[in-house]
Amino acid sequence: MTPKWSLQSTKTNFGLLICVIIVMVCVFAQLTIWWELRRPPEGLWRNSSLPTFSDERVPGRNSTKIIMFWTRRANTNNWFSYPEKFTTRSMSKITNCSQNNCIYTSNHSLIRQADILLFYLNEKPDWPKVRYAHQYYAHFIHEAPGKRNQRTFLDQYEDNINITINFRRDADLYLPYNTLLPVKSDHDYRPRIPHGNKTGMAVWPVSHCVTESHREHYVAELSKHLEVDIYGRCGSHICNRSRTHSCSKSWEEKYKYYLSFENNVCEDYITEKVFLPLQYEIIPVVFGGGNYSRDVPPRSVINARDFDSPKDLANFLIHLASDEQRYRSYFKWKSRFEIVGGVPRFMCRLCQALHENEFHPHPAKSHYADYWYGVHGEMCDNEVIPRMRKEGGW
Ligand SMILES: *[C@@H]1O[C@H](CO)[C@@H](O)[C@H](O)[C@H]1NC(C)=O
Ligand SMILES: *[C@@H]1O[C@H](CO)[C@@H](O)[C@H](O)[C@H]1NC(C)=O
Ligand SMILES: *[C@@H]1O[C@H](CO)[C@@H](O)[C@H](O)[C@H]1NC(C)=O
Ligand SMILES: *[C@@H]1O[C@H](CO)[C@@H](O)[C@H](O)[C@H]1NC(C)=O
Ligand SMILES: *[C@@H]1O[C@H](CO)[C@@H](O)[C@H](O)[C@H]1NC(C)=O
Ligand SMILES: *[C@@H]1O[C@H](CO)[C@@H](O)[C@H](O)[C@H]1NC(C)=O
Ligand SMILES: *[C@@H]1O[C@H](CO)[C@@H](O)[C@H](O)[C@H]1NC(C)=O
Ligand SMILES: *[C@@H]1O[C@H](CO)[C@@H](O)[C@H](O)[C@H]1NC(C)=O
Repeated sequence: MTPKWSLQSTKTNFGLLICVIIVMVCVFAQLTIWWELRRPPEGLWRNSSLPTFSDERVPGRNSTKIIMFWTRRANTNNWFSYPEKFTTRSMSKITNCSQNNCIYTSNHSLIRQADILLFYLNEKPDWPKVRYAHQYYAHFIHEAPGKRNQRTFLDQYEDNINITINFRRDADLYLPYNTLLPVKSDHDYRPRIPHGNKTGMAVWPVSHCVTESHREHYVAELSKHLEVDIYGRCGSHICNRSRTHSCSKSWEEKYKYYLSFENNVCEDYITEKVFLPLQYEIIPVVFGGGNYSRDVPPRSVINARDFDSPKDLANFLIHLASDEQRYRSYFKWKSRFEIVGGVPRFMCRLCQALHENEFHPHPAKSHYADYWYGVHGEMCDNEVIPRMRKEGGW
């Protein structure tokens, strides 16, 4: 006969056991989360998960090239997030694409047939388990190399990446935000917006308030001498962000200048901050590391770096604003150039490069981080504005 206390004790022990298990599960979950969040020390998962090579000749490959987005973008916006939307039909509609015999996919189950795998920076690549000799691995990015702490990620790209795809002129496949297309036109561009309607001076739409380039310091100084209306997270003016076009339209009607200051001052880095306002009747005031005399239309932007100080720039802008004819001379290029670009156009270009075997057999790059940042970090110079401040005492 079992004594009463024994039964009680079993119950208590059982309860205790449950408690212990729950605590252990919690601790384990915490540890797992902590482990995931923790920046990995260099070399830790660097070679643990790299693919092993296979010489297998993959059956079922044919003349259709498969472009596979292996990583998904960390900050999802419309850029490259949904490769499946680039169907052969939509591609032939969107661009005048001479080669669209490609499949764009992020479905990993097609891995063996894939001709090129695209890896986006900023993401811990979960490398494929097996790598086929016919495949290119491409590092594909449209953001600046700015943040040096990304080096830990980049170390993994060492000896793994065959093809570079980015905005740099020296990339294996040059992917600018936009490019210029000369057009033939027998009439001059006639501005639509009466000069007198533009009652404001400068508009600055901005969502990153503290940047590597320190542009916020420049604009703070500039706005002591020139009226700057700041839209977005870093200012007091509001426009519906869901409708970029209507915001831009309202800005071109109201302002004379659009501040197009890059968040990083890097080689060839000219972004949509410049190309967006160029498509409206407003003059972009640019600050960045790109070559603006080569990559944007002639006399289409004002480069802040041509001026010794924000005050000098402000004086120039005020002066120009009061001279209608000279102000409007910055729109003359519009009758001679068209700005083209966009993801579908780029995808067409990639498809074409694959079909025409432009990359040849292309061994992987060593010293990848040196390529991306420059051996001494010279691909970016984010100290331009701090230097100007020091010299100018502002
Ligand atoms: C893996 O990485 C460690 C540390 O970087 C290195 O010492 C080791 O040689 C590597 N192993 C292989 C197989 O590459
Ligand atoms: C070629 O391969 C692709 C992808 O596997 C497939 O969708 C397509 O139907 C194939 N074409 C031919 C002609 O077999
Ligand atoms: C499309 O491409 C064809 C052939 O390359 C060319 O003749 C035509 O002008 C292009 N159309 C446009 C709108 O660019
Ligand atoms: C991925 O492709 C495989 C094989 O073609 C297919 O069975 C599967 O449904 C696809 N997955 C998605 C999410 O489309
Ligand atoms: C210019 O301003 C006038 C008066 O406010 C307005 O009626 C007109 O629509 C404006 N023009 C443009 C192109 O914005
Ligand atoms: C934003 O857009 C919505 C819908 O178009 C509109 O109702 C609202 O008034 C807009 N807000 C501002 C601040 O313009
Ligand atoms: C910018 O590009 C032009 C035209 O290609 C070239 O002549 C000039 O030297 C470049 N400027 C710089 C600073 O590289
Ligand atoms: C890509 O690089 C790897 C490593 O160097 C190489 O084995 C592979 O053949 C290259 N791919 C192509 C298509 O050249």
